[in-house]
Amino acid sequence: MPGVDQAAGARVRTVRLADLTTLKVGGPAEVWEVEDAAGLAEATAEPYRVIGGGSNLLVSDAGVTDRVIRLGRSYNNVRGYAGEREAWFGAATPLPGLVRRAQKAGLSGLEGLLGVPAVLGGAVAMNAGTRFGEMSDTLQEVEVFVDGALERLPADALDLRYRHAALPDGAIVTRARLRFTPSSPEAVAAAMHDVDAARQGQPKVKSAGCAFKNPPGDSAGRLIDAAGLKGMRRGDAMVALEHGNFILNLGAATAADVLALVAAVREELTKVGADLELEWRLWGF
Ligand code: FAD
Ligand code: EPU
Repeated sequence: MPGVDQAAGARVRTVRLADLTTLKVGGPAEVWEVEDAAGLAEATAEPYRVIGGGSNLLVSDAGVTDRVIRLGRSYNNVRGYAGEREAWFGAATPLPGLVRRAQKAGLSGLEGLLGVPAVLGGAVAMNAGTRFGEMSDTLQEVEVFVDGALERLPADALDLRYRHAALPDGAIVTRARLRFTPSSPEAVAAAMHDVDAARQGQPKVKSAGCAFKNPPGDSAGRLIDAAGLKGMRRGDAMVALEHGNFILNLGAATAADVLALVAAVREELTKVGADLELEWRLWGF
């Protein structure tokens, strides 16, 4: 492991991004783990990008030359959450923990996000969701670090839609204010049961979730399945047998393998008139 440098409010290391992504591919980058606004100011002095839970990223085998900013522990305040109906949460707060805490507190609004392995900042940036609900259901306001300063933006300024949030260029979400709907732990747990059931057909192997957005009125997974592409492989990257929109890393897949498979799937689908748009964010290609 290369050396660790300490900057004001930031910890700097060179790491393989494979270690910070759920797909487990991707080369090196200088990762700045920041704990406060001073750290953000220093980290953003050179070209940068932001990583959350790394669960929607395909990073090239060469890595990226930009600094990669990761919000540290001070931006994770799930433990301090006492079940208030409305609260600010740090952007490094793991979504699964928050979903669980809200359920225990009998608060509804996040249960549709059960099983999304994001942190809050990444879930806001993607407006993550399922057909049972999305981030926009609870999001009231965000705090962002942009152009060297912290700023607040109301959720309705973000044009939140299916897998879309219009953040200002270069904005880093640092905190989000969520508002829940009072319910009961039992009712929220019952709703979570349905979400969980809908996930049972999804694979458990390393992936970055669905590779493609659903085209209006259809499912990319269904289209890929109908085209007979399940099990298609490039190296150790494979279209999942359980769900056509999941591309798996069977162990030793490279980013080149994954990208080649994405291209092959897309090409096959153009033959049946479908033009699939990637949901993943591609870094370093
Ligand atoms: P990352 O993958 O790290 O980043 C995604 C994008 O957000 C990048 O462009 C990044 O720069 C940006 N970003 C991250 N943090 C910040 C920040 N603080 N400020 C500004 N920009 C930021 N998604 C769904 O919507 N629904 C699902 O049901 C779902 N199921 C999944 C299941 C599995 C098993 C997996 C692996 C993934 C799944 N996903 C799903 C995809 C993924 O979890 C979401 O896209 C999620 O929102 C990504 O969040 P993240 O924190 O991992 O962000
Ligand atoms: N289907 C098939 N074959 C497949 C996959 C799906 O025929 O291989 C059919 C199913 O039988 C069902 C329909 O397609 O009739 C829809 O499938 P599913 O319920 O699995 O939903 P999806 O549209 O494929 C979406 C999200 C998921 C989210 C689930 C659950 C997108 C791209 N995908 O999948 O999100 O978890 O709904 O709500 O919107 C993600 O974004 O990363 C993700 C995993």
